[in-house]
Amino acid sequence: MKVGIVGTGLLGRAVAARLLRTGHTVTVYNRTKEKAAVLKDQGAKIADSPKKLAEVSDLVITIVRDSDAVESVSFGEDGIVHGRHDGLIVADMSTINPIASKRLAQKFEQYGIAMIDSPVMGGPPLAEKGGLVVMIGGKNDTYERCKQVFDSIGEKTFHVGPNGSAHSMKLALNLQISILALAISEGIILTKRSGLDPMLFFDVLNSTYFKTGMSLLKGPKMAKGNFEPSFFLKVMEKDLEEINQTAKEFGASLPMASVAMNLYKDAVEHGFGDIDYTGILAYLERVGKQTG
Ligand SMILES: NC(=O)c1ccc[n+]([C@@H]2O[C@H](COP(=O)([O-])OP(=O)(O)OC[C@H]3O[C@@H](n4cnc5c(N)ncnc54)[C@H](OP(=O)(O)O)[C@@H]3O)[C@@H](O)[C@H]2O)c1
Repeated sequence: MKVGIVGTGLLGRAVAARLLRTGHTVTVYNRTKEKAAVLKDQGAKIADSPKKLAEVSDLVITIVRDSDAVESVSFGEDGIVHGRHDGLIVADMSTINPIASKRLAQKFEQYGIAMIDSPVMGGPPLAEKGGLVVMIGGKNDTYERCKQVFDSIGEKTFHVGPNGSAHSMKLALNLQISILALAISEGIILTKRSGLDPMLFFDVLNSTYFKTGMSLLKGPKMAKGNFEPSFFLKVMEKDLEEINQTAKEFGASLPMASVAMNLYKDAVEHGFGDIDYTGILAYLERVGKQTG
């Protein structure tokens, strides 16, 4: 399959690199052109617009910030639909609201284009190794036609249900990550204020049933103040907005999600948006200290 990737931010770049390394023909497009150009040396073809990318692709994967961005690269001027041809499939790997995703799929259908949602768990390092967990929403026959591409980037794939359902699952999972990062941050702050070494906090925590991938891998980096981004804090804040909006639309009460959103939002407003989401610790330590 010829694959087109629209959006070569942190995740899109890693997915494109993995597909190139596993022998796919990959064309990339990014709104800020320089971020796509870096993939040329790895063998990617560069397209000037989503339309031109769609013209030469069997499967277009969108990996952009939010539903407005998916809408814009899909239906805007020179968008994906203007490059439509028989058999074209669009898979959206961005993390967006399930209701918006369903609406986008219906809109694509009006142009004769099959769309699935394909959000993922795991960041750029796992994408580069083919270790993502992929969730699929949409028709099974559409997924089967491009399954081989998802098998190249994912270790495990779940077909969750109809269009939008995979995004519901993804938001429920990102809620875990955002709150876990807050819990670990507060654990580090408390141990430090008690005069203890936060690395000891991880030695103890990681010896118990309550250890997580985050406490094993990200935790020690957090304690050392290393917030090199694999997932920007500003993108986690956007996800929390999507989570809270989705909860509202489905009539669910999620008090922790709303507290978490306000904290991440304040962190972005205080200039912490362009570091890793685990940098919520830096925000709590610096801004939390000032405000008591
Ligand atoms: N990083 C992860 O670990 C991870 C894991 C799972 C899911 N995700 C999801 O994947 C998506 C991308 O995340 P990321 O980490 O790659 O973020 P990122 O590095 O901030 O990249 C965002 C991408 O979206 C594009 N974009 C934003 N607004 C746009 C618009 N209005 N029109 C066209 N393009 C637009 C950006 O283009 P410019 O370069 O021009 O700004 C860039 O390519 C998000 O929905 C995120 O929640 C990320």
